[in-house]
Amino acid sequence: MTARLLYQLDTDATPSVFDSVVAYDGGADHVIGHGSITAAMVGPLVEGAIYTRGPKEKQYTALFIGGSSLNGAEAVLQAVRAKFFGKFSVSVMLDANGCNTTAAAAVALIAKSVKLAGANALVLAGTGPVGARAAAMLALEGAHVTITGRNAEKTEAAAAAISKRFGVTVGAVAAPDAPSRHAAVRDAQIVVSAGAAGHQLADANAWQDSEALRCLADLNPEPPLGLGGISASDKGKDYAGKIAFGALGIGGLKLKLHRACIGRLFAAHDQVFDAEAILAVAKEMA
Ligand SMILES: NC(=O)c1ccc[n+]([C@@H]2O[C@H](COP(=O)([O-])OP(=O)(O)OC[C@H]3O[C@@H](n4cnc5c(N)ncnc54)[C@H](OP(=O)(O)O)[C@@H]3O)[C@@H](O)[C@H]2O)c1
Repeated sequence: MTARLLYQLDTDATPSVFDSVVAYDGGADHVIGHGSITAAMVGPLVEGAIYTRGPKEKQYTALFIGGSSLNGAEAVLQAVRAKFFGKFSVSVMLDANGCNTTAAAAVALIAKSVKLAGANALVLAGTGPVGARAAAMLALEGAHVTITGRNAEKTEAAAAAISKRFGVTVGAVAAPDAPSRHAAVRDAQIVVSAGAAGHQLADANAWQDSEALRCLADLNPEPPLGLGGISASDKGKDYAGKIAFGALGIGGLKLKLHRACIGRLFAAHDQVFDAEAILAVAKEMA
């Protein structure tokens, strides 16, 4: 049987251990990690992947783009795809910092609890890889999305990048401290907290009395959690009419989804698993 080879192209110096473990668990026979990858470096790597196996075996070579820089990963994906032509391609997945699989798991679970189309959704710290993808996916599902970040310029740039990549409109609000984040939460029907691990972005007072809020999700698994008043293991827990998802409650689907996408990479030689395709799989699985 032809070995399933997954080449990890990671923009960080050390390829992610998390991504390599999930790659094996998802069905790869060998995972080969490359670190410090930039768009300018991918030419020979892609040539090695597309020219080595015949039409029937090419599907068993695949690429995984990771690392903590979403912009860097997107540039690598673009460079990889630019090398493909005709039948000379392999399947590729982008999941920088788990951005697509984590956001897709969260959005698929939220979508089961509340209607996304037309809802006002707020993504706290939507400037990071996971928050940016959560904002994009909520917008693709028809929500009116605003992201926050501590710095106005950075937040506006992140919102503009999401809008450009996905053809959606995403608002930006600078919220450098707890009071400004609490004010932003007030009118939202859906709140996703996507801040760095171990940082609280809003306490329970920010959302418990909100009349608008229907659903909240926190992606940060490390105490203090991003949203006070919920538990990391919440998975659709009802807090007086507000449905909550914690990071561990979302993490189970995230891991299954990540593994499933790795498995699907080897089903054909020409697939791209980025936000849209990964969200579609998440919605099947949720
Ligand atoms: N549940 C799961 O399965 C799962 C999987 C993967 C990741 N995660 C979690 O998802 C979250 C987001 O991941 P990520 O990779 O996108 O995170 P990240 O890049 O490390 O941080 C996201 C954003 O947090 C803000 N931030 C950083 N330090 C802060 C501080 N001291 N106070 C307030 N805000 C701060 C920054 O926004 P500004 O500078 O613009 O304010 C940053 O862009 C993390 O908590 C991560 O652990 C969960």
